[in-house]
Amino acid sequence: MNVDIGTLLKALAHTRNEIAKVIIGQKEVVDKSLIAIFSGQHALIEGVPGVGKTLLVRTLGHVLGCDTARIQFTPDLMPADITGTNVFNLKENEFSLVKGPIFTTFLLADEINRAPAKTQSALLQAMQERAVTIDRTTHALSPNFTVFATQNPIEHEGTYPLPEAQKDRFMLKIDMAPPEKNEELTLAKRTLGNQAPEQVLNQGRIKRILSVKALTGLGRLLEKIMIKDELIGYCVDIVRGTRTHQAILSGAGPRGTQALLLASRGLAAIQERDFVTPDDIKHMAVPTLGHRLILRPEYEIEGLTPKEVITEILSQVTVPR
Ligand SMILES: Nc1ncnc2c1ncn2[C@@H]1O[C@H](COP(=O)(O)OP(=O)(O)OP(=O)(O)O)[C@@H](O)[C@H]1O
Ligand SMILES: [Mg+2]
Repeated sequence: MNVDIGTLLKALAHTRNEIAKVIIGQKEVVDKSLIAIFSGQHALIEGVPGVGKTLLVRTLGHVLGCDTARIQFTPDLMPADITGTNVFNLKENEFSLVKGPIFTTFLLADEINRAPAKTQSALLQAMQERAVTIDRTTHALSPNFTVFATQNPIEHEGTYPLPEAQKDRFMLKIDMAPPEKNEELTLAKRTLGNQAPEQVLNQGRIKRILSVKALTGLGRLLEKIMIKDELIGYCVDIVRGTRTHQAILSGAGPRGTQALLLASRGLAAIQERDFVTPDDIKHMAVPTLGHRLILRPEYEIEGLTPKEVITEILSQVTVPR
């Protein structure tokens, strides 16, 4: 094995352990979150109220051991509430920048679809360029700037759907379902004692284990994971397949290809392999591409979902041997 995968796995095991002190179960969700973080990418977590989305992201922010900030999105939130504003300083007789919460490393954008598109868009430049322009001056953000956003499914009342360009900036959309029965039982029992999830987190009973430096190092390790040219071609074919499928009005763009590649590599790593397989790519196709697709209304009315369309595309694209 030519990657020091041991270092990566140790960091991963530590991180999982700490998270599990707060978050019960949700293994797939935690793994996908870690894939996004280790790859230096943004993620969107979707689920009905009360499944633990906010708690998960707060917990991640805590174990990451870097600067974190949280923005609660509301209908009256303004773009400047996110980026910051120049205010006149009477003493100095000049304008100076009061930095907004975006000047951080790990940003929790909670209930992102509760604010209108104009406000959500304040994140666009930051997410792509890791920089933000305020009154014509561009300010660099942390090189590890990462956004984890949460949202309720759009059918829920009082929400504004994310614009396409905004969705495209998330490497993954992670669906968070209600817990399994035994997990719900564990949660119920913990709630009654001093192991209640929020209590454990709020009282700082979990460790900060990953530093910005460690994260950068993990990113370097991921670069060494092998992905054969044929598999890169396979990713490209899958993404291009979303642009020609009859049920799709608008398919995934090149960011989709990048996301699929990076996420597949991350999955290989957390499964203790130093090479990517076609199955890694298949597994990550829905979480990386599903949220980028717009279905034709006539198919959507029939109840077709992006997941079903991607499954069909996967069955049509030739898998390299
Ligand atoms: N898997 C879980 N592990 C630990 N706690 C959980 C889990 N699922 C739900 N909870 C508990 O459920 C409660 C709600 O969690 P949280 O506020 O994170 O939900 P949410 O998904 O953000 O909801 P909303 O969409 O309404 O904001 C918390 O008290 C949390 O402790
Ligand atoms: Mg919440």
